[in-house]
Amino acid sequence: MSENIDSLQHESRRFAPSAEFAASAQATPELYIQASADPEAFWAAQARELLHWHKDFTRGLDWTNAPFAKWFEDGQLNVAYNCLDRHVEAGHGDRVAIFWEGENGDSRAITYAELTSEVKRAANVLIGLGVKAGDRVAIYLPMIPEAVIAMLAVARIGAVHSVIFGGFSADSIRSRVDDASAKLVITADGGWRKGKISPLKPTVDAALAKTGTHTVQNVLVVLRGGNDIDWVDGRDSWWHEQLEAAEPEHTAEAFGAEHPLFILYTSGTTGKPKGILHTSGGYLTQCAFTHKYVFDLDAEKDVYWCTAAVGWVTGHSYVVYGPLANGATQVLYEGTPETPHPGRWWEIIEKYRVSLFYTAPTAIRSFMKIGRQIPDRFDLSSLRLLGSVGEPINPEAWIWYREVIGAGKTPIVDTWWQTETGAIMVSALPGVTTTKPGSAQVALPGISIAVLNDRAEHVGHGNGGLLVVTKPWPAMLRGIWGDPERFIETYWEKFDIPGAESRRMYFAGDGARLDEDGDIWLMGRVDDVMNVSGHRLSTAEIESALVSHPMVAEAAVVGAADEATGQAVVAFVILRADQEDAQTPDEASTILRAHVSEQIGAIARPRQVFVVSELPKTRSGKIMRRLLRDVAEGRTIGDTTTLADTSVMQIISDKLTGGVRK
Ligand code: PRX
Repeated sequence: MSENIDSLQHESRRFAPSAEFAASAQATPELYIQASADPEAFWAAQARELLHWHKDFTRGLDWTNAPFAKWFEDGQLNVAYNCLDRHVEAGHGDRVAIFWEGENGDSRAITYAELTSEVKRAANVLIGLGVKAGDRVAIYLPMIPEAVIAMLAVARIGAVHSVIFGGFSADSIRSRVDDASAKLVITADGGWRKGKISPLKPTVDAALAKTGTHTVQNVLVVLRGGNDIDWVDGRDSWWHEQLEAAEPEHTAEAFGAEHPLFILYTSGTTGKPKGILHTSGGYLTQCAFTHKYVFDLDAEKDVYWCTAAVGWVTGHSYVVYGPLANGATQVLYEGTPETPHPGRWWEIIEKYRVSLFYTAPTAIRSFMKIGRQIPDRFDLSSLRLLGSVGEPINPEAWIWYREVIGAGKTPIVDTWWQTETGAIMVSALPGVTTTKPGSAQVALPGISIAVLNDRAEHVGHGNGGLLVVTKPWPAMLRGIWGDPERFIETYWEKFDIPGAESRRMYFAGDGARLDEDGDIWLMGRVDDVMNVSGHRLSTAEIESALVSHPMVAEAAVVGAADEATGQAVVAFVILRADQEDAQTPDEASTILRAHVSEQIGAIARPRQVFVVSELPKTRSGKIMRRLLRDVAEGRTIGDTTTLADTSVMQIISDKLTGGVRK
């Protein structure tokens, strides 16, 4: 990593905004000036300008019970009303909200008026099923309009959604359903993926069939795949039948600004995913603000497309809440980029004349690998801005993105944020910032970021350290569902030291470097969280899946650098003594990769599983992942002096050169 960072620091290309772009850009340098004068007043002004409040608020931030923040607490709003009804009332009912493209080639254009009426019906269905304000609803759907409709219907009635990414396993669904005590699950029979139907309902059935009682009373099923499914009478019902029978009218009721909006589970440093809790008014304010200014949105003219799935935070903030709050027209695509041909994304951009495009570096790198001849076949001239999210973007990919996809003229916004931050925190502002390929640039107006050392001192320009948010922000997480202690420990105790303001600084878990100009370069996670294809995975979670297999005695997982996916999961396992001769290391590797996939989901399947006889441990028994990472990345093994047994790494690497490969 450090070599990479050094080479990044020598990146000298600069891209100033064109005069033409700057002339009509939403963002202006004044935003920084206004925000720095009084960040709280700045956010209050944004909240009033960008959202409709049923009842105005009198207070901005309440930080008296830090780190439990409250924003705009006595204000009242309805999140779904802000994303739907008010646009129709303002005369934009005929504007397309969603151009939906199914993977198998079917498509739908849904206007704001149509989306509003679907959400109203869906809200009535939820009420009919006994869902009340504050109840939790799990959503496990493909990228179809019903995913957006379901989320907004839940929000409309003040219930709390927990969207579970469609690639997660039955076990992962069950642990999330149990943790949040979900009352209802909304799923589909299946969805199109890679040219075939990928079943979903059977996975929900399997999750609910697991031993122990659960809280789910009903399962609502969207008809999409047409695949055969089992049916539990009295529990299951079809979405389309329920919607057809539902009352069409529903008046959005106002809820407090701090009313919970959603829980989204994300991997941390222990085996148990954390339910990140977001609330309404502050979250929606920052989503709308960032979506407008970072993407330079002109809601009348632009066609926006964010390729993230709704199961990740990017899908929440930049497919559902930000764009819809701003009345944008967007593309929603069900399938994978290469189906049925490798130019599918570019074909969609050409078809809908997409102007603002937001995706992940992993995708960009995979297109780079195939070559520019694919995108060159399509008319991408509608594009005027490109965004990147989820992991550091290397300068080569940044330049390729701008040159090949953006015809050498579009601004690129590299946006740093997290599930926990709720919305973008660090990014260029198009039309204002002169960008550097590979740098996420600076904190947005109203956001305070610092790079500190372990003693909470500023590292200063030209140095690296830990990325910290030093002031509360409107879209910040309000807690970890059911676990306030873990919330404090994970994010607020790192800098709870003399000299630093107690429990006032948010530790993001990312390393960062400030260059000579004070621009921020992200350096990856500093904890045991991996980032695979922009998806967050925990080493501990995969280790616990591995040791749950009867064959395994011990396991250690690391994220190893991978050209395509940023990082890849590499596992080292010690088999139980009676298992060592039962199968070859290759067979064991195959079985265990499949086991992880079944336990957590295909995204967590290790790229490689190495069967070893020892793991490198310190004298206190902590696994030294750094050394395993050296092995996994094919480097010379670093300093082993703190190992309890210094010969272990030699044994491991000798054994591996003996031949266990993927
Ligand atoms: O390590 C950072 C990386 O992704 C982590 C957050 O992951 P998640 O909560 O799943 O949210 C991903 C989408 C916002 C961060 O801690 N990350 C995200 N964006 C960037 C990034 N790393 C570098 N540059 C980025 N632009």
